[in-house]
Amino acid sequence: MKQWTTGQDGIKNIKLEESKTPTETDLNDGQVLVKIGYVSLNYRDTEVCSGTYGHHASIEPGASLVPCSDMCGTVVASKSAQYESGTRVLSIFNQTHLSGQVTEQDLGSGLGLPLSGVLTQYRIFPDTGLVPAPSHLSDAEASTLPIAAVTAWTSLNHFQPMGQPISGKDRIVLLQGTGGVSIAGLQIAKALGLTTIITSSSDEKLKRAKELGADHTINYHTTADWDKKVLELMSGRGADVILETGGSQTLWKSFECVAFGGLISAIGYLSGKEDQPEKRFNVNVMALKRNVTLKGILNGPKDRFEEMLEIAYAEEKGIKPVVDRVFEFEEAKEALQYLESGSHFGKVVVRVA
Ligand SMILES: NC(=O)c1ccc[n+]([C@@H]2O[C@H](COP(=O)([O-])OP(=O)(O)OC[C@H]3O[C@@H](n4cnc5c(N)ncnc54)[C@H](OP(=O)(O)O)[C@@H]3O)[C@@H](O)[C@H]2O)c1
Repeated sequence: MKQWTTGQDGIKNIKLEESKTPTETDLNDGQVLVKIGYVSLNYRDTEVCSGTYGHHASIEPGASLVPCSDMCGTVVASKSAQYESGTRVLSIFNQTHLSGQVTEQDLGSGLGLPLSGVLTQYRIFPDTGLVPAPSHLSDAEASTLPIAAVTAWTSLNHFQPMGQPISGKDRIVLLQGTGGVSIAGLQIAKALGLTTIITSSSDEKLKRAKELGADHTINYHTTADWDKKVLELMSGRGADVILETGGSQTLWKSFECVAFGGLISAIGYLSGKEDQPEKRFNVNVMALKRNVTLKGILNGPKDRFEEMLEIAYAEEKGIKPVVDRVFEFEEAKEALQYLESGSHFGKVVVRVA
């Protein structure tokens, strides 16, 4: 079989290699062999390939591994009572994170670092590391769910009891940019009946976000004070939940436009990991000023993934994950470079089989 590997030394250096195809005889009890159909890419994958993903579980710098974590595939051999051959399945990101709080140990089970990932034609999984793929979504659409959608779902519902997601037009959600997490967050928020505000550097992308149901849009390039605009749009109240994907250039503004008692879900750092010296602020003071909860999010457990599929991605909710572009398996390098450029809207996907 063929698989892509990275030496964590740059996207341009990833290699398409031959490897032994696993067979049924390689399976232990409780394991399945999956023929991978589609892999969706995440910002993290570009960092793993570039050797810059250093803040969680890691492997030797320069060591070779198969990148990527999110796939939709088909079971082709099984030693599991749960999955028979022919079942369509999705990977879960941290393979041992099944419920509740993520642990250091769970982070050691992340696909595509530190574990070997899914940018390969076949892979063996424990049956616990998979969920069934929704039958009404295509393989390409379903492959986008494990990181982007689960992270958005957890960001909105982490403090909610299982099975009771937040809901209601009076709950305001702010989404930053139009990448994978934000667009999944927009679709989920609309499915839950929430009011949404989304930012982007592009009016064209904001137009597409409107078509997906965004209630309010703000161009964060032409409206640099987008935090003030959020307050203005919400008559001074601000957003109840903010999916904070921006990081250094956005967090302090999120504190300025979150509602009193609101939640900032700290997800990413698209605008940088280091604070700008001229924009240092005291998190303690900012958090108490509007009585804010700042919650770090690390994807989500398997039971929240299943909850999300049952509630937000139920067929009648009508969510079709946004696949911006599909690349062929041989074009995985170009796909990662395209994602890194930030030109996309929603998700970038690689067709493996
Ligand atoms: N904690 C977790 O569990 C978790 C899970 C998934 C992702 N993440 C992190 O969350 C972030 C988003 O991931 P992703 O996969 O959605 O990324 P992505 O698809 O690569 O997002 C790219 C988009 O981010 C937007 N962006 C860039 N700079 C921005 C800024 N200053 N303000 C607002 N938006 C900006 C741009 O949108 P426009 O073109 O519309 O401007 C760009 O197209 C990344 O940092 C990733 O590492 C964390």
